Amino acid sequence: MVPIGRFFPDLTGPARFVHIGVPVADGPGMLTTSGTRPAPSGTTAEPGHWTLVGDDVRVPLADGSTRRYVDLDTAATSSAAPAVARAVEAFLPWYSSVHRGAGAKSQHASARYEEARGLLLQFVGADAATHQVVFPRNTTEALNILAFRLRLAPDDVVLTTAVEHHANLLPWRRHARLRTVDVGAHGTFTVDDVVAGLDASPTPRVLAVTGASNVTGWMPPLAEIAAEARRRGVLVVVDAAQLAPHRPIDITTLGVDAVALSGHKMYAPFGTGALIAPRRLFRDGEPLMVGGGAVSAVSWDEVVWSDGPEREEAGSPNVLGVVALAAAVRDMQRQGWTAIAEHEAALVAALDRELATVPGLVRLGPTGTASLLPVAAFTLPGTPHGLLAARLSAEWGVGVRSGCFCAHPYMGRLLGLSPTDVESFHDDVRAGRRDRVPGAVRASANRGTRLDDVAVLGQALRAIAATPELDRRYHLGPHGYAAPTG
Ligand SMILES: Cc1ncc(COP(=O)(O)O)c(C=O)c1O
Repeated sequence: MVPIGRFFPDLTGPARFVHIGVPVADGPGMLTTSGTRPAPSGTTAEPGHWTLVGDDVRVPLADGSTRRYVDLDTAATSSAAPAVARAVEAFLPWYSSVHRGAGAKSQHASARYEEARGLLLQFVGADAATHQVVFPRNTTEALNILAFRLRLAPDDVVLTTAVEHHANLLPWRRHARLRTVDVGAHGTFTVDDVVAGLDASPTPRVLAVTGASNVTGWMPPLAEIAAEARRRGVLVVVDAAQLAPHRPIDITTLGVDAVALSGHKMYAPFGTGALIAPRRLFRDGEPLMVGGGAVSAVSWDEVVWSDGPEREEAGSPNVLGVVALAAAVRDMQRQGWTAIAEHEAALVAALDRELATVPGLVRLGPTGTASLLPVAAFTLPGTPHGLLAARLSAEWGVGVRSGCFCAHPYMGRLLGLSPTDVESFHDDVRAGRRDRVPGAVRASANRGTRLDDVAVLGQALRAIAATPELDRRYHLGPHGYAAPTG
């Protein structure tokens, strides 16, 4: 174990912080060979690629050897930025209850927590006079809070799209009627499609749309869509879980009202997200979660709710997560969006190139457009998606995700499932046969991904496509995961 303070002496916190040893990669079951730590944030020998914590982690392969882990599952959760690890280490000696103590540590923790609200406002170009920041656990919780606080009536319409993650469908469906902008075979829609949804009667109260798809990486034309919605007085809510780690978000330029994001997808792996939304939406009424912190006074007969964001944050807040999120935001701002976007454009091109050379591989969603993040979903007919993902891991040390990516309606469109196919999908799930359900493999990359990593993916897929007989060495269990048999 190596104390990271020794490698990262330039901690971001006040100089009086004590550096303590924190293992950042040598977790249980993880193999590291060199014991070296990644260099502080900055480019490495490969132009445009940034070092992340755990870059040197080696993982076991089925043949008993080890290999450097190739993380192509960054859309699920990203590794931490070194600056985040430093900030967390610096804060650990100081962390204490937020808004609940008179002691110096508590005061310090509370100040860092509130500072982070200001930073998040600035991160999305919001004004403190009109907007507030709530710190939920993640995007899912953020959207649940907002859907609850809008006090929608069951007859209200929320316009959303077929591209959405379940997090941006189910909270709305719980409170209102969904109207959905559908997609074509390539998994995209046009501004005109959205306009048709906005102009249908009754006028929707909310447009809930993703900033980028977690399945295909497609980024809808947000600014144009938002302009049409606002012209009709419709509140625009953006699920920015995928967009936030990759592109700058300015809610004023984009013309959107509310944004939800997750720290663990933007280099801050500590259980905190953010909801940035108009203050007026939270002024009256009860919060989703109730308890301490959300209230200013309680008697047997009456509750006086707290003012401001605290009302939405019942219970002790995750201050460590918020410090990590703030550090991640500062780090992204320091890296600069142009450099990040340039590197990611190279990754998009590399994914297109490599996947196009795999015999039989079927790509889902759009390719060859500038509106893509480095995310690619694909199938290899003949090899079930769970088995393909298992072979990539066991034979090549490549981490990807397989399945339907919490976006079942979208995957249904991309895979061309009929209503009968969807019915038998649901029957299989109910019967505990996830091995039978349709799906795909997703490779996703971020600023920490090397072009070399994408080359390894291509090499691995070509080798797997050439050796379908080796599929028999794996057992695909009813849970849908495969493992080598021998
Ligand atoms: C587009 C999108 N929205 C929402 C979510 C939910 O994020 P979380 O699990 O952090 O709540 C995800 C997670 O993958 C996502 O990709």
